[in-house]
Amino acid sequence: MTTIYVTRKIPDVGLSMLKSKGFELDISTKDRPLTKRELIKVLKKKPYDGVLSLLTDTIDGEVFDAVPTAKIFANYAVGFNNVYLDEAKKRGVTITNTPGALTEAVAEHTIALMFAVVKRVVESDTYLRKGKYKGWGPELFLGEELQGKVLGILGAGRIGGRVAEIAGKGLGMSVIYYDIKKSEEFEKATGGTFRATPEEVLKEADIISIHVPLLPTTTHLMNAERLALMKKSAYLLNTSRGPVIDEKALVEALQKNVICGAGLDVFEHEPKLAKGLAKLPNVVITPHTASATRSARDGMAKLVAENLIAFFEGKVPPNRVS
Ligand code: GLV
Ligand code: GLV
Repeated sequence: MTTIYVTRKIPDVGLSMLKSKGFELDISTKDRPLTKRELIKVLKKKPYDGVLSLLTDTIDGEVFDAVPTAKIFANYAVGFNNVYLDEAKKRGVTITNTPGALTEAVAEHTIALMFAVVKRVVESDTYLRKGKYKGWGPELFLGEELQGKVLGILGAGRIGGRVAEIAGKGLGMSVIYYDIKKSEEFEKATGGTFRATPEEVLKEADIISIHVPLLPTTTHLMNAERLALMKKSAYLLNTSRGPVIDEKALVEALQKNVICGAGLDVFEHEPKLAKGLAKLPNVVITPHTASATRSARDGMAKLVAENLIAFFEGKVPPNRVS
């Protein structure tokens, strides 16, 4: 029988698909990520055939070696920066992800963060709850309108494309973008125009939204130097991966009004926040919940199950990344 270790419970729809194929599932009973030590310990218990992992698990050589029988690690996430692909390759382990299912959820969440920070929604809410509201005022909580503003997208994949489409078509923002290469598909869907460097996007845009995968080349893509290129009136959004921004430098930039505000769903050292970040009124933060819709998480559960099923039926899994 095919036996799979599941590092944390995911929505039932995916688990039922696996069970109905006769797979035996051992599911972690902890309602938190396992530490690497715990994961290694549990993987050594049985000759598992595969592992269903989460973005919060570090899957490196030691983890692969704890369970040499497992020839697939199916990651329940679109991002797979938590998996050491070169170590997987060395051992002939297949890695899959769950793209597409969460595009709409993450794109809409990005727009929610944009509205929240630009219209000062959270700041105003806090003010009211603290009993500070003494009546309507002509200049109380002035924010911005988005129509006609320039949206700069860094990373023109599916999610970046959908954010640009909603903002361009729905709000009348004009879209510019940077990616390692020009994307016809992105331009057709969004009317966006290409810039050959991230610097050009940073200088021109009123709102910058990051949608790159986390790679050595995108780590600290936004550092103090690049933050300083942004307009003083500009806002930064990040729903990709935390380490893409030097968070300490961002806190400083926000404190010193180098930029106007930020909307963040991901953090450099999750679940920790950089010192001072949570004290800033011009920041809206959510706990890595951009893909947290029922439909996205169910969709991801179905995809992760489809990948495992295909693999054990001897087919190439639809979302193989390595
Ligand atoms: C979420 O962050 C994902 O990569 O799925
Ligand atoms: C993720 O699905 C992306 O390509 O942005």
